[in-house]
Formats: sequence, structure tokens, C-alpha cells
Amino acid sequence: MARNFFTLMRSSAPTATAVSGANQSGPTTTPPPPPNIKEDADAGVHLDPTLEAVRHEITEELDMALQLRQVSAFYGSFQAIDNMSMPIPRNRVTALIGPSGCGKSTLLRCFNRMNDLIPGARVEGEIEFEGRNLLDPAMDAVEVRRRIGMVFQKPNPFPKSIYENVAFGARINGYSGDMDRLVEESLRRAALWDEVKDELDKSGLALSGGQQQRLCIARAIAVQPEIILMDEPASALDPVATLKIEDLMRELAEEYTIVVVTHNMQQAGRVSDYTAFLLAGEERVGRLVEFGPTQDIFTNPLDQRTEDYITGRYG
Ligand SMILES: Nc1ncnc2c1ncn2[C@@H]1O[C@H](COP(=O)(O)OP(=O)(O)OP(=O)(O)O)[C@@H](O)[C@H]1O
Ligand SMILES: [Mg+2]
Repeated sequence: MARNFFTLMRSSAPTATAVSGANQSGPTTTPPPPPNIKEDADAGVHLDPTLEAVRHEITEELDMALQLRQVSAFYGSFQAIDNMSMPIPRNRVTALIGPSGCGKSTLLRCFNRMNDLIPGARVEGEIEFEGRNLLDPAMDAVEVRRRIGMVFQKPNPFPKSIYENVAFGARINGYSGDMDRLVEESLRRAALWDEVKDELDKSGLALSGGQQQRLCIARAIAVQPEIILMDEPASALDPVATLKIEDLMRELAEEYTIVVVTHNMQQAGRVSDYTAFLLAGEERVGRLVEFGPTQDIFTNPLDQRTEDYITGRYG
């Protein structure tokens, strides 16, 4: 089932509904392809100018952690993202890229119901997670956030000890196992254990920025999520700390599904397996332009706007 979503062949002529006001009884005309689609675009692309983003063919067998269907998000009367449909492959790193304001953070927050916490915010559409729509109000948002954790741009450890930072969420979630072990295991997975094992009582705030970010990742891991969302997790860090976070993302993808927002194209190229390119037009509504394996998006983008962005022609 899920694979069909990807094995998208160049579609036949768009349906008649795409041509509004056409004379029903007249001869069917084939509208020209959307102007942004490159002439030399490879096969394996779905061209439906009414709704769909361009998608590359995906050949590996994949399980989907999330499946988005026609997701739109609003802040009051302002529509921030429109009609986004895409998969998030399990145990892979998916990067969300696009210029500032195109809706990357908004979309990421849809994935774990964080927009619920913003007054006036509203999300429409469906995000399938383990066979259910996680946007359904009947889904427990707190449970969704436990299973789909988040790491923010600015490291935000609690003003507590390193140990407590990691143990806190697990304890609140009723973890009754060996807490020392859970803390050690989480810190090890976040590649921080060796640096802090002798000072677990020290305040989390006393760590360097890069260490604080890894502490936040350890905290996210400690509640045993399935998916970890990261919103520009390395943008406040120096190059060495950034590389550590990138290495960590690759390691974590063996056990977790990672979705990362980044403005850094090299980073997207280094860490991600799949990339989604988002863009907002003049009316500021963000749309998904192109989705596919990162290598294809970077070496053979099918939409001119994707190419313009990755080669630095958009702000
Ligand atoms: N809490 C909010 N209330 C109202 N509008 C918002 C809110 N948060 C974001 N927006 C608007 O929604 C749109 C998308 O914002 P978002 O933060 O998702 O973009 P982004 O792609 O993450 O940008 P950046 O790369 O700068 O972080 C923007 O037009 C923004 O002004
Ligand atoms: Mg953002």
C-alpha cells in the first residue's frame, strides 16, 4: 500500500476538472505542464498542478512512520501551510528545507500536536501514525508528544541537574524501571555520557551549547519516543558541535525516525535520506514543492524552484 504512494509514474493528462470553465462537449485539450517543471525531468514524477508536489520515485522498500494527507495549518485567519501530502519514512532522516517563513516549523509542530498550544492555531487534514490520525481530537496530545518528541533550535535544558534533566520526563510519564540505567543509556545514545558521567549533579545550564543540545536530545530519548523532531537543532552551535549533532542524527536514525528542519544545505545533504522542499508564494502560504531521496533532490531536482533554492538563488 504505502509503496504505491511513491511509485508514481508520470501521470496522464490532468483531469478535466483542472480546466475550469472548459466546454464540456468540446474536444479535450491537454494543458501544458506547470511552468516550473523542468523539461528534462526524469520519469517517475507525478504532475498534478492542482494539488500535488513533485515526487521522485523511491525504489527502496520503506515502512512509513507518518503519512501526511492534505495537511493545512492556520493561525487565526492566516493560512501558513496549504495542502501538504507526503510520507515520513521510518528509521530515516527526513529534512525539511525552504526559505524563512515557508512553514517548516509550523509543519514540524503539526507532527506532534504542538500547534494545539498556540492560541488561534488550527490544523486540517490527516497525519496517519500507527493506523490512526494523530490530528484527531480524540487522540491524546500528551501521548502523541511522548511518542513523537521534539528538540528545539535553542537548547532549553531545565534549571536542574544533568541527571534530573534526563530523568524528569520519564518520571512524569510513570517510568518505574531502573532510573540510573535509563539516564546512562539516554546520555550514551545522545553521545554525551563520556563528557558528563562524573558530574551528573551539575546543572544542565552549566554545559556548553553543544552539550546542552545533546542533553535535550537525551531528554527526548528518555521517554522512549518513536520519532524525534528537530527544528534547526544545530543552528546555534559552532562547527564542531554541529558535526557532533549531525553524527548523532545518523546514529539515532538506526532506532528512531528523525525529521529535521535546516537552513544549511550542506547539512541537509550530509544527514538526510529524504528531503522535502517547501516554498511560500507572494501570499505567504507555504506549499510542498518537491519530495524525494535527498540525493535526487540535490543532484536532479525536478522543479526549477528547488534548483534555484539549493543553488542559493532564493533568500
Ligand atoms: N504563532 C504564530 N502566529 C501567527 N503567525 C505565525 C505564528 N508562527 C508562525 N507564523 C507565520 O506562519 C508562517 C510560517 O512560519 P514558520 O515559523 O512555520 O516558518 P519557517 O519556515 O519555520 O521559518 P524560519 O526558517 O524563519 O524558522 C510565517 O508567515 C509566520 O509569520
Ligand atoms: Mg522555523
